Amino acid sequence: MAFMMNVSVLGCTGSIGRQALDVIRSHRDRFRVTALCARSASQEILELAHEFHPEAVGLTDEQKAISIKGGLPEGCELIAGKEASRVIAAWRSAETVVNGISGISGMEPLLASLNAGKRVALANKESIVCGHKLVKDAFENGGKILPVDSEQSAIFQCLTAGKKTEVTRLILTASGGPFRDYTQEQMERITPKQALCHPTWNMGKKITVDSATLFNKGLEIIEASYLFDIPGDQIDVLIHPQSIVHSMVEFLDGSTMGQLSVPDMRLAIQYALTYPDRIPCPCERLKLQEIGRLTFFEPDNRKFPAIALAYSALFEGGVMPIVYNGANEAAVDMFLNGRIRYSDIAECVEYAMTHITGRSISSAEDIAAIDTEAKRKAAERAAGKGR
Ligand SMILES: NC(=O)c1ccc[n+]([C@@H]2O[C@H](COP(=O)([O-])OP(=O)(O)OC[C@H]3O[C@@H](n4cnc5c(N)ncnc54)[C@H](OP(=O)(O)O)[C@@H]3O)[C@@H](O)[C@H]2O)c1
Repeated sequence: MAFMMNVSVLGCTGSIGRQALDVIRSHRDRFRVTALCARSASQEILELAHEFHPEAVGLTDEQKAISIKGGLPEGCELIAGKEASRVIAAWRSAETVVNGISGISGMEPLLASLNAGKRVALANKESIVCGHKLVKDAFENGGKILPVDSEQSAIFQCLTAGKKTEVTRLILTASGGPFRDYTQEQMERITPKQALCHPTWNMGKKITVDSATLFNKGLEIIEASYLFDIPGDQIDVLIHPQSIVHSMVEFLDGSTMGQLSVPDMRLAIQYALTYPDRIPCPCERLKLQEIGRLTFFEPDNRKFPAIALAYSALFEGGVMPIVYNGANEAAVDMFLNGRIRYSDIAECVEYAMTHITGRSISSAEDIAAIDTEAKRKAAERAAGKGR
């Protein structure tokens, strides 16, 4: 009989969280939901509590949390307010934590899980980009990260084909988003509605916009470098519109390993939960004969400045990846709220990167302060004060 794993899901009402719960639904003999957490989606978390009977649920929005208090199943503890995601992230009886929180808010819960010695199925890339130094220290407490991001999961799987010293290149693939064939002029007129339609993946709002601007790929370049300890000049990006090859690893003999599947996040989530085992997954099988053609080309760095900005943040190091992430997070928010144009997003990030200088980072508070400053600089640029 398979070992029963206790799993907590952070961001349980989002795209990753819901797909993680779908994987758990398909393997109830193998996984038990221990605790759930979200920000404010009170009705959804209430329904999930009645379906999965966790030991605890948490909402970081205190008022929303209080509103569901009377409706929870018997024995289900409620954690309300700012601390909720950290408390649920370290919930005592969970062995594994799925971190599907969006944005930098996922970082402190990740640290809490690792400090409590948990295995983390990590989708939240922002936490590695901003907090990799603290994450490294937290590993000393026995925690482990299994990547959920499909590109990082692909690389993780491909790396098993050789030794670390034999790796010469990581090749991250990107769908290229819905605007890869747009002219510069068309790009000026992109609306939030257009940016929220991704051709191959169905995801949360922020990552969908990041996929359109390629900031998502920029974040993944930095994430891959930190997760796999590979320098940025050994990481390439290729546009691959079919989203079938999720990423590749080149070894020193020239062999290149790729991981292929239909674009379905449940596969990467499940592998992070079952690693090193593989079990049947509720997603479709790959039929290459129906797809016919797989294409690859280099990104247009002029049209998509996010990639060059990511390399420069990674090469400069220090606070720069935090600035890259924070300014982008603020700019995406302003774009979705109609305050800036699509093409202003990269300008806001570049502005923040050129106006914030280095200082040392030794705590989550330091990271939060730089993140706040980056967001302020992005807003300053957006308000037209920065030029
Ligand atoms: N979606 C994908 O296919 C995909 C693929 C690869 C990587 N990722 C990464 O996975 C992460 C999640 O993406 P997503 O697309 O699933 O986002 P999403 O659909 O927007 O969901 C975000 C989830 O996080 C919760 N949340 C937000 N802020 C929180 C906070 N401060 N404390 C606790 N919970 C909070 C939300 O709760 P409410 O519903 O209450 O707001 C929601 O459950 C991102 O880092 C993204 O880059 C996603």
